[in-house]
Amino acid sequence: MKILVCGGAGYIGSACTEYLLDRDFEVVVLDDLITGHRDAVDPRAKFVKMNLGERDRVIGLCKNEKFDGVMHFAAFSLVGESMTDPSKYFRNNVANGINLLDGAVAGGVKSIVFSSTAATFGQPEAIPIRENDRQIPINPYGESKLCFEKILKWYNRIFGLKYAALRYFNAAGATPFHGEDHRPESHLIPIILQAAAGTRDKVMIYGDDYDTADGTCIRDYIHILDLAQAHMLALSVPESGHYNLGTGNGLSVKEIIDCAKRTTGRDFKVETAPRRPGDPAKLVACSDLARKALGWKPQYESAEAIIESAWNWKQKFPKGYEN
Ligand code: UFG
Repeated sequence: MKILVCGGAGYIGSACTEYLLDRDFEVVVLDDLITGHRDAVDPRAKFVKMNLGERDRVIGLCKNEKFDGVMHFAAFSLVGESMTDPSKYFRNNVANGINLLDGAVAGGVKSIVFSSTAATFGQPEAIPIRENDRQIPINPYGESKLCFEKILKWYNRIFGLKYAALRYFNAAGATPFHGEDHRPESHLIPIILQAAAGTRDKVMIYGDDYDTADGTCIRDYIHILDLAQAHMLALSVPESGHYNLGTGNGLSVKEIIDCAKRTTGRDFKVETAPRRPGDPAKLVACSDLARKALGWKPQYESAEAIIESAWNWKQKFPKGYEN
């Protein structure tokens, strides 16, 4: 099968590309390299530098290459930034994504897998979060992803373009070749590993007065290779659908820090800071549907395994991607 991976130079897109290539898929990576890294593109993939805003080029690529499936990871994903620059989020994550859908229809693509997010739920009404729970995003990032989920429904109804919207909880961990390298870094696990490696003074815990057992926020960390497996399975599921992807194990910020200290064998300074605006206390997925409908079987269910993989990558590539 020939797959177009949009955003294949980013954290999750690059890991999925590696996963597909290891399983004999043919992959074309499209990325504008605004947040992605050229070095993160698997050398076995064909690379096309393109922004999804380039409508004619995007449609031309889809018509010429005749992809069997599309995976759409290309998006801006910083919640805080979306609160100060909503235009950037709606233009890129919604308007530019429509060019890709038009290309997919024009090129006769059968199936699209879309990177959605737990942020479409906003403040959850119940934990664990199920697919049909109320979706009321509390920031433009989550709203942009929910908008795109709705647009997919219409493209499915009108053009028969089959889709799977995968709502990731907290993507984490690394493959032997691809890991997390955001600039600037804002995610918990890579920040902790910078402190463990001695390239950051300390880790700040954003709030220890939440209504949770130890007062810090609880998240559901899911390994990127488990996400990659779900993407591959979602390509060939016969019906369109929405799937929450997490392990179902909620871990607090303090538990992740303790686990990282044990796993790396390094100690580092930790301080408590005020809450970060927009952080819900608890986000944990119910992924029963993905297990049942996709046949998804996550392999990395412990925080130790996730952190160990990220630490191994960091030791192999201490500066992340060079270019
Ligand atoms: N945190 C800290 N200190 C840090 C960084 C993070 O205490 O230096 C805390 C956060 O407050 C949060 C938890 O660690 O409670 C996880 O934070 P991340 O920034 O790693 O991840 P988020 O849960 O904020 O965001 C992730 C994705 C988003 C997505 C969201 C869905 O990165 O793209 O899940 O809820 F929108």
